[in-house]
Amino acid sequence: MKISLAHTHAAVDADLFAILVAEDELAGDALVTELDAALGGTLRAAIKDEEFTARKDATLAMQTYGKLPARKVLLIGLGPSAKAGVPELRAAAAKAAKTANADKATRLHVALRGAAAADDVRAATEGVLLGAYRFTKYLTGDRRPKKELAQAVLGVRGAKAPKPSAAQKQALAAGESVAAAVTLARDLVNEPPNELTPAALADVALNVARTHGLKSMVWDREKIRANGMKLLDAVGRGSRNEPRFIHLTYKPAGARKGRPKVCIVGKGLTFDSGGLCIKPAPGMGDMKSDMAGAAVAVGVMAAIGALKPDVEVHALVAAAENMPDGDAYRPGDIFGSLDGKTVEIINTDAEGRLVLADALAYARKLEPDLLIDHATLTGACLVALGTGTAGFFCNDDAVSQKYLDGARAAGEAMWRMPLVEELREGLKSDVADLKHTGDRYGGSIVGALFLREFIGDRKWIHLDIAGPAYLDRVSALGPKGGTGFGILSFLQYIASL
Ligand code: BES
Ligand code: MN
Ligand code: ZN
Repeated sequence: MKISLAHTHAAVDADLFAILVAEDELAGDALVTELDAALGGTLRAAIKDEEFTARKDATLAMQTYGKLPARKVLLIGLGPSAKAGVPELRAAAAKAAKTANADKATRLHVALRGAAAADDVRAATEGVLLGAYRFTKYLTGDRRPKKELAQAVLGVRGAKAPKPSAAQKQALAAGESVAAAVTLARDLVNEPPNELTPAALADVALNVARTHGLKSMVWDREKIRANGMKLLDAVGRGSRNEPRFIHLTYKPAGARKGRPKVCIVGKGLTFDSGGLCIKPAPGMGDMKSDMAGAAVAVGVMAAIGALKPDVEVHALVAAAENMPDGDAYRPGDIFGSLDGKTVEIINTDAEGRLVLADALAYARKLEPDLLIDHATLTGACLVALGTGTAGFFCNDDAVSQKYLDGARAAGEAMWRMPLVEELREGLKSDVADLKHTGDRYGGSIVGALFLREFIGDRKWIHLDIAGPAYLDRVSALGPKGGTGFGILSFLQYIASL
């Protein structure tokens, strides 16, 4: 899709002309008044009849039947202007794009509020591109969408036709890079597991590295074994689709003293059948999304490579497929790990923490200022927080505060969870250094406590994205399926360093 900036006026030509408007600005909105005049007073009449008050998420649509160049006008409410921040704007722009898709519109114009600050332009760009997202790769014939949104224009209001500023143009480009990263992550999550094997995931990562000039390294099963990643190897043993360990590096040009270094680690189970402790059939197919953490890490690197922040970023992905097999790992097995600690296997369905343990042990040797992992780790996290909110665990209050502030601006719901020391007891094994599961109650906390055993003395965030990574309902920013949840917050945090 081509996306650009232009001046907004009543005579804008488009299939869909969306106008973002705040509650307290609706009555005095000059553009709405102008459109109303062209439509013979029917727009303000409809606003009154339909009791449209520009409440957040409310919409009012009207066909123009030749009275305006635009075919259809759509008012989108932002709520009170004092609360209409960047996340509200992003969601409203996404709503415009979704409506355009539903209408089979090919040209969309979105009138932003006022003069459009750079942050607003960026958020609207992200919103339009993410709202328009559809996963259609495997649809044929009639099932393919007849029309695609080909062109979106973000409209800047003002009496004269101002040229977009350099800051606005830059914000648009940044928004495109961020949206491309989220789109990539969504595609990876939506891709079926027969296609997206660990090797295929590694190929995508290598492609991202090539495109953006990043350093890359991929270990196959042999290298994983030779380098002592015994837990990743164990989880991958039951599948013919052999595991991979992926390391992408972004190093900013030039030298800076005290430049921050961040490692982002992703759980990359391209399919999680549960292994010998096999999952029940209903919903098992959703476990193609068990590599969503890896999709975040790979997607993020695409954006980092384009945005080029002054922060060193490493992405580490432990990719494997968890399958039952004559060669599969079993409950009762004991394995060493890259860290050296031995682990007694209790339940082969708690495989994510095992592959992450080796990835975290590897990442910590890079001595990052912050180690962060994204993982669809536990069903218990869904029980605790519902499907829309990620469980956020962190061993540092200052980092936690800063990260969660960024997440709010990014519009991603995260809730800080406690690392309850008492539950560590459950990970004690009689025959090895650790068991990998403990008490069923507090399951997402137990998962986090297991991971904590492998981070050394690093500052660390663990995001349990089992809920929001993959949705069976449409969300504010996109359709059902993979969401790319986590990328916006991570990039917000990197920008704040
Ligand atoms: N990938 C699952 C967690 C999951 C569940 C993600 C639902 C998304 C939606 C994970 O590997 C798993 O199976 N966890 C077990 C852990 C348990 C055996 C300690 C779980 O949550 O039941
Ligand atoms: Mn599992
Ligand atoms: Zn899993």
